[in-house]
Amino acid sequence: MNLPVGARLVGVGAAVPSAVVTNADLEKLVDTSDEWIKTRTGIRERRVVSEDESASGLAIEAAKDAIGFAGIDPASIDLIIVATSTPDNLYPSTACMVQAAIGATRASAFDLEAACTGVIYALSIAQQFIGSDTYKTVLVIGVDIHSRFLNWEDRNTCVLFGDGAGALIMKAAEKGEENEVLSIYLRADGTGGHLLCIPNYGTAYPHADSTPPKAMHRFLHMNGRVVYEFALNAVPEAVRTVCAKANMKVEDIDFLVPHQANKRIILAASERLGIPMSKVVSNVDEYGNTSAASIPLALSDAIRRKQVIPPATCALVGFGGGLTWGAAIVRWTAKDKRG
Ligand code: UT7
Repeated sequence: MNLPVGARLVGVGAAVPSAVVTNADLEKLVDTSDEWIKTRTGIRERRVVSEDESASGLAIEAAKDAIGFAGIDPASIDLIIVATSTPDNLYPSTACMVQAAIGATRASAFDLEAACTGVIYALSIAQQFIGSDTYKTVLVIGVDIHSRFLNWEDRNTCVLFGDGAGALIMKAAEKGEENEVLSIYLRADGTGGHLLCIPNYGTAYPHADSTPPKAMHRFLHMNGRVVYEFALNAVPEAVRTVCAKANMKVEDIDFLVPHQANKRIILAASERLGIPMSKVVSNVDEYGNTSAASIPLALSDAIRRKQVIPPATCALVGFGGGLTWGAAIVRWTAKDKRG
C-alpha cells in the first residue's frame, strides 16, 4: 500500500535490568542443566527485575536511549505506543507513564497487546499515522517483565524468559528523503490462544479477591512443542510475504532480526529461508526471550556491536501469544547522533 507520506526509523534504544540469572542459578531451582538449556534454546543467561523495578521503568530508560540515538527533542514526539503484555497496571497505561517521565508534553499515548509480535503491530500503527500525515514523530516501545508471571517451579517455562525493553523512533520522511518502511505484514490466529497464555489475570477470572488454587495461579503456560512448530512455519511465511509486498527477494535482505525465543527456531527458520547466519541477528544467549522487547533489543545490540552497519535492509519478524505473527521490511540508514 502506498501511503501519502513516507516513514523512516531514526532511533533505536534498549534497557535491561542489571540482575543476571544464569543457567547455573536455575539449576538450583528446578531439575534442569546448563547443558539442556544451552542445547535446546541457546540461552546462557537472562536479566530479571528486582522488586523495585517495573515495566514502565525499563520502558522509560529504553525511550531515553532511543531519543539520544535519534537526537530529537522529546517535546517533538506526537505519539507513544507501548507494546506490552506485562504493564505496571491495567491503567494508567505504561505509555502514559513514559509520556510523563520523558517530557513528551505534546504526545498522545496508549498501550497495545500483541505479545511477542507487539512491536511489529506498533510499527504498523506508527506507519499509518505518519503515512496519513497525522503525526510526524512516533515513539514505539516493546517492554515485558515476564519474570513476574513465571512459575519458578516449572522447568518448561522458567528457563526461557528474561525481562527487558526496546524502543524505536519513526519519523515522517522530509522532502527528498526516501520512504524506508517498505512493507509490514500482520497476522493473528486466536484459535491457538491456549497454546501460550497467562490465564486468570483479567476479568474472566471473577474472584479477584480470593486466593486461587495453585493450579489456577497467574502463571505463563506454554505448549512449547506446538508453539515451536508454529514458529517454524510463521517466520518463513511472514518474511516471504513481507518481501513480496516490498517487491523484493529474500536474498535482498541484509539482516534478519527475528524475535529471540529460541536459537534453534532462529537457525531452522533462517535455513528454510536460505539466509546465512552471518546475516542473522541474535542475542538470545544473553537475554533469553524478552517477548515484546526482543526485536528492538536485538537490533539495538547489533548496531552497538557494529554487526548492522547502515545502510542496511532489515527484515524484522515476530511471533508469539495470540497467536500472532508478523514482519516488517525497513531500510536502516540512521546514524547514532551521540557519535
Ligand atoms: O515467544 C513466545 C514463543 N515461544 C517459543 O517460541 C517457544 C517455542 N518452543 C521451544 O522453544 C521449545 O519447544 C522448548 C525450548 C520450550 C522445549 O524444547 P523441546 O526440544 O521442544 O523440548 P520438549 O518440550 O520436547 O521436551 C523434551 C524433554 C521433556 O522430557 P520428556 O518428556 O521427554 O522426558 C521435557 O520434560 O525435555 C524436558 N524439559 C527439560 N529438561 C531439562 C523441558 N524443559 C526442561 C528443562 N530442563 N528446562
